[in-house]
Amino acid sequence: MGGHYDQAMTVRPASNPSPRTRPAKVPPAAAVAGASVAEQLGLAPGQSIELLKALHILTRDGKLNQDSRRKLKQVNHLLQFIEPLLQQVLDAQGNVTLADHGAGKSYLGFMLYDRFFSQRSVGQVYGVETRTELVERSRQLAQQLGFARMHFLPLSVQEAMISTELPAQIDVVTALHACDTATDDAIAFGLAKQAKHMVLVPCCQAEVAGVLRKHKALSLSRNPLSEIWRHPLHTREFGSQITNVLRCLQLEAHGYQVTVTELVGWEHSMKNELILATQAGNGKHSARERLNQVLDELNLQELKARFGLHV
Ligand SMILES: C[S@@+](CC[C@H](N)C(=O)[O-])C[C@H]1O[C@@H](n2cnc3c(N)ncnc32)[C@H](O)[C@@H]1O
Repeated sequence: MGGHYDQAMTVRPASNPSPRTRPAKVPPAAAVAGASVAEQLGLAPGQSIELLKALHILTRDGKLNQDSRRKLKQVNHLLQFIEPLLQQVLDAQGNVTLADHGAGKSYLGFMLYDRFFSQRSVGQVYGVETRTELVERSRQLAQQLGFARMHFLPLSVQEAMISTELPAQIDVVTALHACDTATDDAIAFGLAKQAKHMVLVPCCQAEVAGVLRKHKALSLSRNPLSEIWRHPLHTREFGSQITNVLRCLQLEAHGYQVTVTELVGWEHSMKNELILATQAGNGKHSARERLNQVLDELNLQELKARFGLHV
């Protein structure tokens, strides 16, 4: 099936799993000090206030600061996309594995485990993160919460690809603001692990902008559209934009159906592009050709291997 790349469209998450499978953990409004705190915080059924406190998203007295409110909104929005994908895989094969790359403090992993995995007796979550202190902290928190099917690995995404601590197949790959080229590595990981779904919210990527800059004089002499990245600020932004276009083509070339939408409104984050990719069949030759052509046109030939083209 053909892929789809449309920045203007708004995609709604598929409907959530039946409430039958997700007993509500949020107490009724009257039971929460200060009344309907859960509602005010925009928490979903099954979302534990205690976990949000343990993650320091909520203060001990249940308050949210501006940064935490934004983070909670982002992650909650993302969960609405991911949970139906997990349920779909679980229904099809009776088990599901998820790897979260550039996990940081693992807000996403913990909130997913709390809302989805802890309600079920199967499924494994792997958090991949280079900063060992964050990995150690997450390990301790998972143990404290009894989240036994969460694993944290002090590895780069590239190292995770060959690590024996991860299974040969991972069903769902997520990467939320994984720095720079870590999103590209997460895509390579997903392809190698035959992921059924990838949910990516890229961070700024500097690599493409660097190569655009390097060949700017040649591009300006050859292609009037290179005016789009004549100035450094435009180069950075165009570099980020074209990187995501190239990522989508790479995914389509490998048989994924791709949708691009917003994670949350621009007022919440400058990095809110959400790329959803679902394995849909054979790779698309036309996407591969297009990828090659775009790289040639922009003098980005040296990045062909980065986007999965063998040169
Ligand atoms: C901006 S933080 C995002 C953390 C988390 N995903 C979130 O949204 O809260 C990016 C994280 O990715 C980690 N990171 C950067 N490059 C990485 C790589 N190549 N492999 C694994 N982790 C990486 C950083 O250490 C950092 O914790």
